[in-house]
Amino acid sequence: MILITTPGKVGSEAARLLVERGAPVRMLARDPAKASALRQVGVDVVEGDLDAPATIDAAMRDVTGVVLVSPAVVAQELNVIASAARAGVGTVVKITSKASADSPIARQRGQAEIEAGLIASGVGYTLLRNNFYMQNFLMLAPAIAATGAFGSSAGPGLVGFVDTRDVAAVAAEIAASPGPHIGKTYRLTGPELLSYADVAAVLAKLLDRPIVFSERTIEEDKQAMMSVGVPEPIAAMNAHAVSLIAEGDAAWLSEDVPAILGRPARTFARFAADHAAAFS
Ligand SMILES: NC(=O)c1ccc[n+]([C@@H]2O[C@H](COP(=O)([O-])OP(=O)(O)OC[C@H]3O[C@@H](n4cnc5c(N)ncnc54)[C@H](OP(=O)(O)O)[C@@H]3O)[C@@H](O)[C@H]2O)c1
Repeated sequence: MILITTPGKVGSEAARLLVERGAPVRMLARDPAKASALRQVGVDVVEGDLDAPATIDAAMRDVTGVVLVSPAVVAQELNVIASAARAGVGTVVKITSKASADSPIARQRGQAEIEAGLIASGVGYTLLRNNFYMQNFLMLAPAIAATGAFGSSAGPGLVGFVDTRDVAAVAAEIAASPGPHIGKTYRLTGPELLSYADVAAVLAKLLDRPIVFSERTIEEDKQAMMSVGVPEPIAAMNAHAVSLIAEGDAAWLSEDVPAILGRPARTFARFAADHAAAFS
C-alpha cells in the first residue's frame, strides 16, 4: 500500500497514476469530500490531519511507501516521517523545493529541516527538489483572462518551470519502483528556461490576443497574493521567493524528468494549451 499525504495538485495526480498501474493507494485527506473523485477511481481515502499523529498512524497501516507532499509545515511533515519510521515503511518520496538551511526564505529553510529529519530517520528516501510550478499561473488565470495582463517582481529572471503533472508522474514512478532511487536527490524542471515575459508571449500566441507582462515590486506582489486570499505571512514569504527569481534563483534546468520517465518533460506551451479555458 502506498500512502499519499495530501490530495493537492501533486498528490491527487500521483494517486490517479498509481491506480492506473494497479498499485493499491491510500490518500490522507483532512476533508475527504474534496477527494471523492479519487475514491471513485479506487483510492482508499481516509480522514486525517497532519497535526494529529494518531490519525497519521492509523493511515500508515500496511503501508510500504509514502509520497510526502503537503504545504511543508515542518512539524507536520516530521509527524509523517516519525510515523513512517514507527511503521517500518520502506521508502518516503519527499516533495521539496530548493531547500537550504541558510536560505533567506523560511519555506526553503523548513524544507531543509524536513529533508534532514527524513535522512536521519533511517527510512529509505528519495528527494524531489522541484523548480517553480507552471500551475502557479492558474492562480493568475482569472486576472489574465479579464485584463490581458499580469505582473510580478520576478523581473527578467529565468525559471525552469515544471508541470505538477510531471512531478506527480515522477513521484508515482519512484513510489511504485523505489529500489534504484533510494538515497537519491532529483531536481525536477521543465525542458526550458523562460522569463515571465516569455510566458506572456506563449499565452498571447495561444489565446491570439495581446498578453502584457509588467514588472512590479515585492510589496505589490504580496498585496496581489493577499487579494486572492493568501494569508499575509505566506504572501510575504512567497513574494520574497518570487523576487529572488530576478537574481537568477530559479534559472536552473535538469534532465531528471526525462531520465526517470523515459519521455520529455511537458513544455509551458503544452501546459498552457491544456489549461486554455482557464486563461480565456
Ligand atoms: N508552488 C510551487 O511553485 C512549488 C515549487 C516547488 C516545490 N513546491 C512544494 O510543493 C509542496 C506543495 O504541493 P502541492 O502544490 O501539490 O500542494 P497543494 O496543491 O497546495 O495542496 C496542499 C494540500 O495539503 C492539504 N493540507 C494542508 N494542511 C493540511 C493538514 N494539516 N492536514 C492534512 N492535509 C493538509 C490541503 O488540503 P485542503 O484542500 O483541505 O486545504 C491540500 O490538499 C510544498 O512542499 C512546496 O514547497 C511548490
